[in-house]
Amino acid sequence: MALLNILNFPDPRLRTKAKQVTDFNKKICELTDNMFLTMYAAPGIGLAATQVNVHQRIITIDISEEKNQPLVVINPTILEKEGEQATDEGCLSLPGIYEPVKRYDKIRLKAQDKHGKFYELDTEGLLSVCIQHEMDHLEGKLFVDYLSEMKRNRIRKKLAKALKA
Ligand code: NI
Repeated sequence: MALLNILNFPDPRLRTKAKQVTDFNKKICELTDNMFLTMYAAPGIGLAATQVNVHQRIITIDISEEKNQPLVVINPTILEKEGEQATDEGCLSLPGIYEPVKRYDKIRLKAQDKHGKFYELDTEGLLSVCIQHEMDHLEGKLFVDYLSEMKRNRIRKKLAKALKA
């Protein structure tokens, strides 16, 4: 297993639209293992392959305290959505930045696991937010895109300064 390099905003590679996974081979299993390792080490609760410069529709998530509930989300689609919630979000590609974002409260997700097996998941709260945030990454979208241009510029400067230091 190996730690992967996480791209930081405003790296243009974060804007790449990810492709569907069609071949569930050993490489996919290795990638998800490395993504979990990288995500836990960061530490974070969600990581999209886009953030490690792999442009396939693959997400790893674990919102548990004990870090023992790994969830692999491949080729996700939202079947149903309901309600609205606004929570402070953060992102491993924008270290130290937290801003409120509006998302659906409840979603029904359809996705595949690392072996290609289809599953459905009804979820709400933090897990629902996390899935929606990571699905945005696969579209080349970041949570700061929901903020005003002024706020985004301020964040860009703050991150540039932090990375220099
Ligand atoms: Ni993120």
